[in-house]
Formats: sequence, C-alpha cells, structure tokens
Amino acid sequence: MNERIENLSLALQHKITQEIKQKGLISFARFMEMALYEPGLGYYSAGLKKFGREGDFVTSPELGSQFARCLARSFAPVLSAYDAPVLLELGAGQGSFCCDVLRALDGMDALPESYWILEVSADLKHVQQQQVEALPPHLSQRVHWLASVPDQSFDGIVFGNEVVDALPVEVFQTTAVGYQRLMLANQAGQLQEQWHDFPDHLAQQLAQKQLELPEGYRSEFVPNLGLWLKGITQHLRAGVVMWVDYGYGAPQFHHPQRNQGTLVCHQRHEANFNPYQSIGLQDITAFVDFTHLAHEMDQLGLDVCGFTTQADFLMSLGLPDLIDEAAPYDVYFHQVSEMKRLVLPTEMGEKFKVLAATRNHKATIPGFDSNRLFDL
Ligand SMILES: C[S@@+](CC[C@H](N)C(=O)[O-])C[C@H]1O[C@@H](n2cnc3c(N)ncnc32)[C@H](O)[C@@H]1O
Repeated sequence: MNERIENLSLALQHKITQEIKQKGLISFARFMEMALYEPGLGYYSAGLKKFGREGDFVTSPELGSQFARCLARSFAPVLSAYDAPVLLELGAGQGSFCCDVLRALDGMDALPESYWILEVSADLKHVQQQQVEALPPHLSQRVHWLASVPDQSFDGIVFGNEVVDALPVEVFQTTAVGYQRLMLANQAGQLQEQWHDFPDHLAQQLAQKQLELPEGYRSEFVPNLGLWLKGITQHLRAGVVMWVDYGYGAPQFHHPQRNQGTLVCHQRHEANFNPYQSIGLQDITAFVDFTHLAHEMDQLGLDVCGFTTQADFLMSLGLPDLIDEAAPYDVYFHQVSEMKRLVLPTEMGEKFKVLAATRNHKATIPGFDSNRLFDL
C-alpha cells in the first residue's frame, strides 16, 4: 500500500477515535458515514480509484453505455410529458450515466431542459465535471450540480443507481428485551462493538417496519430514510422517482437465513464482512430493503407503481437491440459481454432491482412489463 494512502487511512482512524473519545460511543451508522464520506478522508471523498478494473467494484453505467441507453427509453416519454423537464441524478459516481443518458435522449429528441446532479463527494463531483465538460456544449450546458436538495419546484425524473446501498445504516439485533443498536467504543486504541438501546426516534422507525424476527437475528436499516427522500422529492410537482440497486423486498431481505444481515465491504473486487479493516480504503454497503424504500415513498404521497428485476426491466426496454451484429467481432464480443453482465441471473440481472413511483403522472412507465409489486 502506498504511503499516501496508508496515511489517509491512519488520519481517518484517528478522527474516528477522537470522535469516540469526545462522545464516549458512536453508532455504527456514524462510523459508516465517516468511513465513506468524511471530507478529504472517507472512501468516497479521498480521491481513490473506486470504479472499474483498477478500483474495487463496477457499476452498470461503468460497464458501457447499454444501461443508460435502455434507461433513456424509459425516461423519454416521461420527460416529453412536461415543459422544461428536469432529470435529477443522485450520486452520479464518475458521471458516465449522465453523459450516456444525455447522448441517448438527444438521439430521441427527448432531452431534459436541465440535468441536476446531487453528489456528496467533492472528489467525485470533480470527476463528473471533467466528463461532462467533454460533452458537446448543447448537452454539457444542461448539467448543474446542486449544493443541496432542490429548493424550487420541478417536473421530471429523480433517479439514482446504487445510491441507496451507499447510505449509512444502523445495525440492530433482536434480543429477549427488544431491539439493540450496535455502537462503537474505543478500547485501548481498538474499536469495540457494544450493544445499546435505540433512542426513541430510531426505535419508532424500526418498530414501523413490523418485523417478526427470532432472537439473535442481526440486520440493518437506513435511519431517517423518509426524511432523506422527503428532501429530494418534496419539490417534485409531477413525474417519476426511480431507484436501481441490489436488494430485496422485506420477505427476502429478512429471510431466516439472512440472520447476519446484508452488510458487505468491497476492496479490489473481493467481498469481505469486516468493516473495521482498511478503514476509508474499502467500500462498505448494505443491500436495499425495497419494502422499506417503497413504504417511505408511499408515506410521502408518491404512488409506488413498479418493482422488477434489472434483467426484466432492461429486456423489456429492448436491451438486445443495442447489440450490433454487424460490428467487428471484438466490438460485438464486448457488447455481448456487457449485456450478459447486466442481465444474467448469476451477474447483476436478479440481484439488482428497479423500483419506481410517480407523482401526478398518469402514464405507465416503460420497462415494467413484468411487475413484481407483490414481492415488496
Ligand atoms: C456506489 S456509487 C454509485 C455511483 C453511480 N451512480 C454509478 O452507478 O456508477 C454511490 C454514489 O452515491 C453518492 N452518494 C452517497 N450518498 C449520497 C447522498 N446522500 N446524496 C447524494 N449522493 C450520495 C456517492 O458519493 C457515489 O457517487
């Protein structure tokens, strides 16, 4: 490991330890927030290579343009329904989705008036800006980075790929006396796990999920998910909210066999289950409980209307027609490999799901020919 990277991790560990010293204990969610997003030091904020072959993981938009070109087919009729529509992307990563979807929408004559990006990582924002600058001006000039959640009314689409899985989670376990919350203490310079009671507001959020779990079951949830969604969607007057991510509906998420939760870390394309190693140098993530996400959107008056697998979604949007059979063999081979990664059940096809909700938007959203709302 190079010295600069090792120093970043040490500085972050020092900061976490200092915060624990000040407060006595911190929640796992706070630890995860610092490990991922602490300005200048966290995994997403310190300028490390995260995406792609030399990074730690690959996302659908980073495999190539097929994902964004399919999504454009779903977005086009929604955007075309409004005057001056906005496409708001949460957590735009390296900016590939933004660039590819704008090119595809341009080809369909369905460009949004504005493309807003809301990104928490200053480092990734810089990478996004570089990619967007390389677009033709009639596309790049539509892209704006928001400093905080939208504060003006808009019609259009709110979209995020692999953003919800990157939100910090509270870890809990069931005991004979109710749920307990994972907290971290500092024991002779080492992080030590302890179980404590939840404060009332979080206990209520957990109780609302109405889970029936056996004693000893460990899992996680995104705290204040409703508030987060409210901030993003409260000024959406009409349109669609869509999330793509790995996860399950509650029956699968809280399956008896998943009794150690879904938290996982990624470093150099290998998964591990130890969030306390390589702090700031590895991704920490949890699968999405889509029932929780759908419930919170419903509470905000959004009409949850579509839930399906990434494979079914992309196939119903005609993914195979993006393969150019007349292309030279190496190009054709690359295209087929990309399509397989996106849709095979052993790759991203089944593990990833698409959840959509509407507000004041009556037309159906392309891509949900097979709808599995009953799995929520
Ligand atoms: C796993 S990456 C996915 C990036 C990109 N969407 C893709 O598919 O390649 C998660 C992204 O979400 C961003 N992010 C995490 N929490 C966020 C939040 N609360 N608001 C906006 N962006 C967030 C991260 O900085 C990062 O850009």
